[in-house]
Amino acid sequence: MGKPCKTAILISGSGTNLQAFIDAVDSGDLDLELCAVFSNNPDAFGLERAEKAGIATACIQHADYPDRESFDQAVIAELDRFEPDLLVLAGFMRILSPRFVTHYAGRILNIHPALLPLYPGLNTHQRVLDAGDEWHGSTVHFVTEKLDAGPCILQGRVAVLPGESAQELEKRVQAVEHRIYPQAAGWVGSGKVKFSKGESWIDGAKAEMPRVVTFK
Ligand code: GRF
Repeated sequence: MGKPCKTAILISGSGTNLQAFIDAVDSGDLDLELCAVFSNNPDAFGLERAEKAGIATACIQHADYPDRESFDQAVIAELDRFEPDLLVLAGFMRILSPRFVTHYAGRILNIHPALLPLYPGLNTHQRVLDAGDEWHGSTVHFVTEKLDAGPCILQGRVAVLPGESAQELEKRVQAVEHRIYPQAAGWVGSGKVKFSKGESWIDGAKAEMPRVVTFK
C-alpha cells in the first residue's frame, strides 16, 4: 500500500464536513492523511474541531490583504508548507483566483449543495423549493476557474418532501454531504478518480456524468 494522500481542508465556518472527514479517518473508513486545516476566519469553529483532532491549523485573514491575488499568494505559501497532495474546500467562503487554481490544478475538490449543473451560487435550498423540484442534493466536483462548474465526481440526492422548509431540506442535504464528500475524496486519494484534460475520470473512463447515490 502506498502512503495516504496528504489532504488539507479549507474552511470558513462550522466545519461539519471537516468533522465527517475526521470521523471517517478515525474509524478507518477513509485512507487520507489530514495534514492541515486552513481557515480565512479565525473564529471558525472548524479550527477547534481540527485542534481537538490533533490536526495542524493555519489561519490567514483576507482582510489583511489588499486584493485577492496577494491573499491567495499568502495562502499558497502557507499551504505548501504542509505539502498537500489534495485540497478539500469544505465551506471555504472565498472565490479562488486563477493563479491559485492553476497552482493546485486538478487537486482541489469542492462540495456544492445542489445537483450541479443546477443551481450554482447561493440559496440553493430555497431556489429548489421555489422551483417545485422533485429532487435536491449535493455535488462533489473538481475545482476549475469557473465557479461551481468543474467536472463532477459524485452526487447524493434526496427527494424533496411535501411542505418541508428550506432549513429542513438543508439539514437533510448536509447529512448527505457528510456521506459523499469523504467517499469522493477517498476515490481521488486512491487514484480511482482522476482529473485529466479538464474532465473527471472514474476507473479509467471519462465521466460524462457523476456517480449518483440516492438517500432516504
Ligand atoms: C456545506 O453545506 C457545503 O455544501 C457548502 O458549505 C457548507 C459547509 O458547511 N459549500 P460546514 O462548514 O461543513 O458545516
